[in-house]
Amino acid sequence: MNSERIYIFDTTLRDGEQAPGASLNEVEKLQIAKALAKLNVDIIEAGFPYSSKGDFSAVKRIASEVEGPIICGLARANIADIESAAKALEPAKKRRIHTFIGSSDIHLKYKLNMTKDECLKRAVSAVSLAKSFTEDVEFSPEDASRSDYAFLFELLTAAIEAGATTINIPDTVGYSIPEEFAKLITEIKKNVKNINKAIISVHCHNDLGLAVANSFAGILNGARQVECAINGMGERAGNCALEEIVMILNTRKENLAFYTNINTKNIIQTSSLISTLSGFPVQKNKAIVGENAFAHESGIHQDGVLKHKETYEIINPETVGIKASSLPLGRRSGKHALKVRLEELSYNFDTEEIEQIYIKFKEIADKKKIIKDQDLISILGEKEREAISEKIFNLEKLQIASGSGLPIAAIEIRKLDDNTILRAAEIGTGPVDAIYKCIKKLIDITGELMEYNVHSVTEGIDAQATVMVRINHNNKIYNGHGLDTDILLASAKAYLNALDKLYAEK
Ligand code: KIV
Ligand code: ZN
Repeated sequence: MNSERIYIFDTTLRDGEQAPGASLNEVEKLQIAKALAKLNVDIIEAGFPYSSKGDFSAVKRIASEVEGPIICGLARANIADIESAAKALEPAKKRRIHTFIGSSDIHLKYKLNMTKDECLKRAVSAVSLAKSFTEDVEFSPEDASRSDYAFLFELLTAAIEAGATTINIPDTVGYSIPEEFAKLITEIKKNVKNINKAIISVHCHNDLGLAVANSFAGILNGARQVECAINGMGERAGNCALEEIVMILNTRKENLAFYTNINTKNIIQTSSLISTLSGFPVQKNKAIVGENAFAHESGIHQDGVLKHKETYEIINPETVGIKASSLPLGRRSGKHALKVRLEELSYNFDTEEIEQIYIKFKEIADKKKIIKDQDLISILGEKEREAISEKIFNLEKLQIASGSGLPIAAIEIRKLDDNTILRAAEIGTGPVDAIYKCIKKLIDITGELMEYNVHSVTEGIDAQATVMVRINHNNKIYNGHGLDTDILLASAKAYLNALDKLYAEK
């Protein structure tokens, strides 16, 4: 069977970053874009340059520093947006401008206050202007799935005539169902007379939990590009999950004539990086990347898998970057064993990097008997964060007195920019409150705590805890992480990590 290529357009950094509470700084975005390039996505939608100075600068930096995929910037159908996207994308070797305008009656009437004719003219001018900056132009009629089909066909025909090389069909509000979405793509193929001059793309939201199913229906009916995000991040309930759509095509390749160029072995590490940096934990039973995705719990299933893996396993975990461990890692493991295990998990580090990781590994191994893969991934996440965020506040000492009386915290922090030591003690409603009160007392610019989450990295009483916090300072969200076998130390580190980011920006 001849196989056809499906292009993977990753929008983790644009639609994914629109997820409520997500807030990535420029260095984090760059780190993610590099991971997406390693994953071998075809297109990275790096942001919406006109929307803020921060977005503009991040898109420009990604365009300068990330090689491999096409770098794309989003722009509404107006001159300022398109010029800004073109400017931000200038350094990219391969660049795409993605311009969009609402096409449904509801968007035209209530959001844009425009007639269909005005909308069509605006779309054509936008595509023509984008085309003056780059050959590669994508056009999206926003809310396509709820648009008047006759108008949609006319709009798409005009956009292609003006030079759009990809036409993207968004199910913006996640309202469509697979049969209907499939029909829409079929009708577009039938009714848009110049459709053979453009690639059809699909962009589905997950409000009804159908983003992947709708995207898949789109592919089956002629779409050759899928817009998706790692871990299904995105506006509201999110976008089509990249790992799911890619693994559908990969797992069922014998029955489906499609392939992608994704390095599937990098899926788990990319998912884990994005979860750590964005502060969105991956749900345990999430398909492909959830902690339980390859865990067999019931006796019958375990028995079956031990006798023959395929009784209950449709994907070999190694395909997505999980490799069964031959040797458990622990306190006595050396650097070589650590390096081998990391390579088995598709992480390749040079000797100097292994030295640094080994220091962290030993710290944890002294407190914990067995170091599992999740522990290693968390250690790498911590290393990653330290490498990219400028550390200003270092937790030196923490003492807690807690119980049914008065929870008291005493803390010592080193301010690394001027090497001063800050000390405070406070009473709180609980130990974490006491710690955070101390920090607020010592540091002049802080933020309001919006979210506090503790997550155990593995099972067991000696497990490491990851604490994730989000703080709000002047309506901007900063997230922070802390990792430690002691929850209170992890809590203090998480808050200081968020303040590091706030200070770095100031
Ligand atoms: O959901 C949507 O319609 C979008 C467009 C900008 C493509 O994100
Ligand atoms: Zn979207």
